[in-house]
Amino acid sequence: MDLKNKVVVITGAGSGIGEATARLFGKHGAKVVVSDINLESAQRVTDEIMMADGIAHAQQTDVTQFEQVQNLIFMAIEKFGQLDVMVNNAGIGGKDQAKTAHHTHEDWHNVIAVNQTGVFYCMQVALQQMMKQKTGNIINVASLAGLKPSGNNLSYAASKFAVVGMTKSAALEYGRKNIRINAVCPGYTESALLDKLLSSREGLGEKLKSMVPMGRFGEAGEIAEAICWLASDNSKFITGQTLTLDGGNSLL
Ligand SMILES: NC(=O)c1ccc[n+]([C@@H]2O[C@H](COP(=O)([O-])OP(=O)(O)OC[C@H]3O[C@@H](n4cnc5c(N)ncnc54)[C@H](O)[C@@H]3O)[C@@H](O)[C@H]2O)c1
Repeated sequence: MDLKNKVVVITGAGSGIGEATARLFGKHGAKVVVSDINLESAQRVTDEIMMADGIAHAQQTDVTQFEQVQNLIFMAIEKFGQLDVMVNNAGIGGKDQAKTAHHTHEDWHNVIAVNQTGVFYCMQVALQQMMKQKTGNIINVASLAGLKPSGNNLSYAASKFAVVGMTKSAALEYGRKNIRINAVCPGYTESALLDKLLSSREGLGEKLKSMVPMGRFGEAGEIAEAICWLASDNSKFITGQTLTLDGGNSLL
């Protein structure tokens, strides 16, 4: 997989799947912009990539703020000259696990702002730059919850179905412009986001694991491998697709 010197921007890269993805791109010799709403965690990941002889830069970005997204991409171009790969990974779950009749408006607005509007903003600004370059590659982190129904989770499901829809629609628009756009759909994957969900109910971890044919949760590094592959020329005829990484969960 040749990712050497590719300029990659990753949102939500201070933790979990984003962090593992930043590290893997760094290991492959890419120039990585590690962005997160939490600058401290973005800086920690950046320092660790650089200590392993990689090239990285930390940038604080809240993806719900269009101007901050613009600054992120402008900074990447100023620092590294271009934008080859945009990984739209930042995402949150709702605070409550309530059914639709009791889903809080606070959860709805917060989750949609980060998971859906944030991905739209990042795709829009990245595409403007990629159009100028006449090349580019976008990978959105959706979810299994964007492919099949899940209860007690309406804003999250709505946002992730939207990410899948935006991925396919934009891929259709930009295929002839040499810009590929794909999504990964992880099932339950070890991360802070999953820990928060599991802490909401005793025994939930074992229950969810028992629903996975492979009998375990995914690892962030396993999702990162798929993202890097989609970013590489090894997948160069693939666009508008979702790649499910869920240990077989979607088979049930
Ligand atoms: N972990 C899972 O089981 C799982 C499953 C499917 C999909 N996903 C998706 O994977 C992505 C990464 O999640 P994760 O599991 O690694 O969670 P995580 O909580 O470990 O990481 C998410 C990161 O996003 C950052 N972030 C939050 N709000 C932000 C904002 N407004 N702007 C910029 N950054 C922000 C957080 O600071 C954090 O570093 C999310 O889109 C999530 O929905 C996760």
